[in-house]
Amino acid sequence: MTTAARDEIDGNLSTLEFWALPQERRLAAFARLRELDHPAFFQELKLPFVKTGAGFYALARHADVVEASRSPHIFSSEPCSNSIADLPRFLARYFGSMINMDDPRHAKIRRIVSRAFTPRVLEKMEDDLQRSATRIVDDLLAKGSTDFVTDVAARLPLQVICDMMGIPEHVRPMVYDRTNLILGLGDPEYMGGKNYARDGITRFGALYGLLKVLAAGYELNHLAMKLARQRRRNPGDDLVSALISANVDGESLTDQEIGSFFILLVVAGNETTRNAMSHGLKLLTDNPEQRALLLEDFDAHIPGAVEEIVRLATPVIQFRRTLTRDHVMNGHEYKAGDKVLLFYNSANRDETVFENPDAFDITRSPNPHVGFGGPGPHFCLGANLARREITVMYRELFTRVPGIRATGEPDRLFSSFINGIKHLPCAF
Ligand code: HEM
Repeated sequence: MTTAARDEIDGNLSTLEFWALPQERRLAAFARLRELDHPAFFQELKLPFVKTGAGFYALARHADVVEASRSPHIFSSEPCSNSIADLPRFLARYFGSMINMDDPRHAKIRRIVSRAFTPRVLEKMEDDLQRSATRIVDDLLAKGSTDFVTDVAARLPLQVICDMMGIPEHVRPMVYDRTNLILGLGDPEYMGGKNYARDGITRFGALYGLLKVLAAGYELNHLAMKLARQRRRNPGDDLVSALISANVDGESLTDQEIGSFFILLVVAGNETTRNAMSHGLKLLTDNPEQRALLLEDFDAHIPGAVEEIVRLATPVIQFRRTLTRDHVMNGHEYKAGDKVLLFYNSANRDETVFENPDAFDITRSPNPHVGFGGPGPHFCLGANLARREITVMYRELFTRVPGIRATGEPDRLFSSFINGIKHLPCAF
């Protein structure tokens, strides 16, 4: 590795400019990181009003991401796994759910909600999924060429997660809007047109962004509390009813735990699967031979296609862990308190694990991608649900509208956390 290449990486990953670069240049930087004989360290971006640390190690290789994921007693999700800086207390109240907890507390809370994600429950959902997918394609056919993200990919995940939580129809647009804002923090579309990657973050800009996210957290929490009150009077078979009646070691969940859990689920349910579906349409458009293969025998190829889409799209770019003690992993000495970022996008293109990693190959087998997280206690709770949603939506879509294709480049979300597509023109 030349000094110039190293310098280029050093200047990159911790800056907003890096995340505004075209996808190919970012992927090239991660390829160089994987070549290093040690994980690169990046200083943290200093943000007004947020307590930032010294920096983080970038885990770019598959082996490192897998080992850190399966060693939660050393690579802890506390105090925070969903942002590089520790969440300020006023935000942790809304966004500090089980994703930011270690066992045993994490395991107990996860057990309560995992009942809503068992294969039996998913099987029971199948008819509803199918009905929703049919309606979405009816509307698409009536409308003609359209924005695939808002008119197709966003609709099914929103419907499913809101049904699961018992969220009434009339507040669903608000839920969609607020979850977009929470994970779109920093993107000009959600920040009043301000382009932080180009102009830098002023104190005013940071305050504006934090207040918007705080307000979104407050509104979703308020909705969760309202639903919880209703379910206490009138229990149903939705997840909010399960949360209020849950018993963890003789204790009920507190209002704060219910609220933050509600927010985690609506955000995770909404902001991931739609990106996988949208990236999938673009990949199938750009790779006509793979699309032909899928359409030739949909049932045989769809499971492999879904895994390959999640691998190449990697809708969640990274999560963080913090070292609980000094530890050596793959030759590198980490110190207690060090932060590491698990770059799933890079692990999923690791050439020592995936042959021809940039190729879209729906027959790839094995496909040990980490798009749903590495093996360990935090492995995505909604992975099987997401797989079902994509399968049902694509079956309906490609059966009734086999000519559907992306007709332009994706309008990408500016984010170091979510590999999002905000809009994608399509026609058929
Ligand atoms: C393609 C779609 C999806 C992707 C790529 C994805 C990705 C991920 C990843 C990478 C993690 C690991 C976090 C960590 O290790 O710290 C995770 C966790 C999680 N996901 Fe997903 N997810 C998807 C869909 C969903 C859906 C549909 C739901 C729920 C409706 C969901 C709910 C969760 C929850 C609750 C966790 C936290 C699990 C825990 O901390 O034990 N996800 N997801």
